[in-house]
Amino acid sequence: MKHRTLAGRFVAAAATVVICAGAAATGLGAADPNSFNRLLASPSERNAPPTLDGIHDPQNPGTALLQSPKAAFELLPKSPGGNYVNWVKAVQEDKIQPRYDRLDANAKPIPLDMNIVREVKGSMPDVVYPHKQHTEWLDCANCHPSLFVPKKGANPISMAEILLGQKCGVCHGKVAFPVTECARCHSLPKQKKDQQAVAPAGK
Ligand code: HEC
Ligand code: HEC
Ligand code: HEC
Repeated sequence: MKHRTLAGRFVAAAATVVICAGAAATGLGAADPNSFNRLLASPSERNAPPTLDGIHDPQNPGTALLQSPKAAFELLPKSPGGNYVNWVKAVQEDKIQPRYDRLDANAKPIPLDMNIVREVKGSMPDVVYPHKQHTEWLDCANCHPSLFVPKKGANPISMAEILLGQKCGVCHGKVAFPVTECARCHSLPKQKKDQQAVAPAGK
């Protein structure tokens, strides 16, 4: 999780640095209304090297020795958003082995393979919340009980809350894939259910 957290910040930092440089040149303040939006970084600005990421001190000679995330991410499966890596696939394909316990290098996760389906009103496909992909990295205590009561349907969740950084948005859009990737959460098409609803006679 720590690894992921750092990685997730590179794109945001890259965007900030570029804006600052522009502001200095034009004498404008933080006038660009999109300066906060990490999704607007052009492909060449994505995953900037540590000397340009706005996180590390560019004056420090050690900074230039750090591996650039672009090089580190090159061989990992791609995704269209966030820092452009599909981290779920990266784990599944054994391209990365995230340390489960910060202090114990040998600790192994015990993934829980349990899906929770959340019905969505309207035409959006239903949400399938998968415990498996989460518990390959995370501890139950990352979510239970403070973020979600461990009981199906006990936690009201809305898209508005997620966009405001609550519920699923505590991580998604910050350290996990962003909210723009609708279909990764809304993955259960309604069609099947409609057919089921029509099929049984006498109902
Ligand atoms: C990333 C967050 C997250 C993590 C980590 C997580 N869960 Fe959950 N869990 C959820 C969500 C979301 C629900 C659904 C709650 C709802 O529907 O309101 C849930 C539901 C549950 C339920 C209720 C199932 C039911 O049918 O009522 C149990 C039991 C549960 N989790 C156990 C665990 C255990 C054990 C772990 C660790 C191995 C774990 N969870 C890790 C988010 C998480
Ligand atoms: C990180 C997972 C996730 C992503 C990504 C995501 N959603 Fe959702 N969405 C949810 C959850 C969870 C709910 C609540 C479902 C429920 O009612 O229990 C929801 C609910 C909704 C609803 C129902 C109304 C509401 O506001 O609650 C709509 C519409 C919706 N999402 C649209 C979208 C669209 C469009 C996108 C992409 C731009 C998107 N969602 C991306 C998880 C996600
Ligand atoms: C504590 C942090 C955290 C919370 C809270 C959280 N997630 Fe995740 N989620 C992750 C991480 C980390 C991954 C794996 C890395 C990645 O995909 O960026 C992940 C992966 C997923 C995946 C797997 C996508 C795939 O390609 O297989 C889905 C679906 C998902 N989350 C939906 C949800 C929904 C819906 C909620 C809210 C009910 C939620 N998550 C809450 C951290 C979180």
